[in-house]
Amino acid sequence: MTTSESHQTGKTPLATGIETTALLNGDFVGLEAARISPMDRGFLFGDGIYEVIPSYNRKLVGFERHLERLNDGLNAIGIANPHSDTDWHTLLTQLLSRNEFTSAGIYLQVTRGVSSQRAHRFPEGVTPTVFAYPFPINAPNDGNPATAKAFSVVTGIDQRWKRCHIKSVALLGNVLHMMEGVDAGAEEILLFNDRDQLTEAAACNVFIVKDKVVATPALDQEKLPGITRNMLVDMMRDSADWVVEERAISRAEVLAADEVWLTSSTKEIAPVSTIDGKPVGAKCPGDVWMQAQALFATNRFKY
Ligand code: PDD
Repeated sequence: MTTSESHQTGKTPLATGIETTALLNGDFVGLEAARISPMDRGFLFGDGIYEVIPSYNRKLVGFERHLERLNDGLNAIGIANPHSDTDWHTLLTQLLSRNEFTSAGIYLQVTRGVSSQRAHRFPEGVTPTVFAYPFPINAPNDGNPATAKAFSVVTGIDQRWKRCHIKSVALLGNVLHMMEGVDAGAEEILLFNDRDQLTEAAACNVFIVKDKVVATPALDQEKLPGITRNMLVDMMRDSADWVVEERAISRAEVLAADEVWLTSSTKEIAPVSTIDGKPVGAKCPGDVWMQAQALFATNRFKY
């Protein structure tokens, strides 16, 4: 569709240029044709939970962990999980098989559903809305620095809410932090709490490396329990070659680190090249990143 055609039809061509099939309330539909009610509480209140699950050659990474976190989030906000784990697996596998992507993230969200009235309190008897669609992500990296995507970041004060461990669709706090980074000419932002301790980034968890020791902030309500983070920590703990610490990390430690990494389902482990315009360590990606991403590549389907 050309731009003028899209003006005539009112349809926007998808950014990927690839036709995408989505899952909406049990039905497979063209993404552009998918519709929900404006009375959906996800739209009106951000009242819902989401996941992003990576897949390579239609094989899901960390599926059980993602479903466990989805379940935790739904429990935390009082929405009954509309599907069993087996049903989720079937639906998401079917979704991937109806699409062309070889490296795909699956975005999935469950909202409380549609209510006839806009009222803050939970409505009774509503059916959750389930939406999922795949989108292309980078091919997996095996620790090759030549194809690694490095990120420039700035630093900022974490101004989000006190329930960041819940993967809520209400992401305005994260969006505004991301734009703080973008407006400063960077691609992500490292966030610090009011004690000047690292929390996470706008859409990633963060690791630092100093003298070959890997550290990441301990989990609490200030951070999302990232699946990539947790898989990497477990892989390192299960291997004799690694020392990994989960603890409070000061701003000074971040700025003095040999390496800094971002982790997320769409990036796996991404090296940080600059912080507030200053290079991180002696080279980027660093040697420890290479080993960590290679470790992740060997084990991504085993955890
Ligand atoms: N974001 N912290 C935040 C605030 C995140 O939004 C994400 C992921 C992570 C990493 O979590 P995981 O390893 O489970 O992807 C940490 C996803 C990818 C997103 O919102 O698109």
